[in-house]
Amino acid sequence: MAPLKRKNPWLQIFKFSLPLILVFGTYHSIATPQVFSLREFVIKGVTHAGLILIACSLALGPIAKFFDAFDTFLHYRKQLGIMGFYYVLLHGFLASLLYLWPDPAFFLRFANSIILGLLSLYLLALCTEWSEVYVIRKVGSKVWRKMLRWMSYSAFVLGLAHIWFIEHQGWEELYFSDPSRFLPPLSLVTFFLGSLVVVGRLGVLVYDIIQSQTKSPQ
Ligand code: HEM
Repeated sequence: MAPLKRKNPWLQIFKFSLPLILVFGTYHSIATPQVFSLREFVIKGVTHAGLILIACSLALGPIAKFFDAFDTFLHYRKQLGIMGFYYVLLHGFLASLLYLWPDPAFFLRFANSIILGLLSLYLLALCTEWSEVYVIRKVGSKVWRKMLRWMSYSAFVLGLAHIWFIEHQGWEELYFSDPSRFLPPLSLVTFFLGSLVVVGRLGVLVYDIIQSQTKSPQ
């Protein structure tokens, strides 16, 4: 019998990201009443796919804790997180080139958001380095898991804060005060989904604390 060929997880996650880019690019094109722009389609698609890949990487652990069917996907967390990081890194690079480079005043207007975005990228880069096998061997799996969890959630929360500071005025002006816009802006949708992941994680944390207290001997 021919040996079973193992599928390359990087390729699998890359293939998973392509429909995400298409869905987000299409959603943005429909939700934004402008002339269709392929550049916007691709940039928004990649940015939001990156955010959602990271969100999936973080959400898989807590989901698999309650639903065994998700256990088979747990080994994709690394690829989801790292590919998500590369997508948002590309977003950071393109945004700097398209918004900050031609208009330095843009930085002053959104300094808090840009700094949060940079910090988020820095922590995501650290997570990528931290996910190497030699780090697990060096620090031990317990410390490794704890540190990775803290760094990845902090990076994600900083990313959400970056989105909030740079987008919330637009949400109010473009959506909430314009009844002709029937779809919420894409950034509001993915910000909401990302926030759910963080709230879900906090819920699991509280659940774990309650469980450990009820189990511990009196
Ligand atoms: C060097 C770091 C970064 C810079 C300079 C940057 C810059 C920007 C700028 C200028 C915008 C508003 C314009 C636009 O819509 O594209 C934006 C929006 C956004 N950023 Fe960033 N960003 C950075 C990091 C990040 C990170 C780490 C994440 C995710 C974790 C992220 C996710 C987003 C998202 C989802 C939006 C909303 C895009 C939309 O309008 O639909 N950014 N960023």
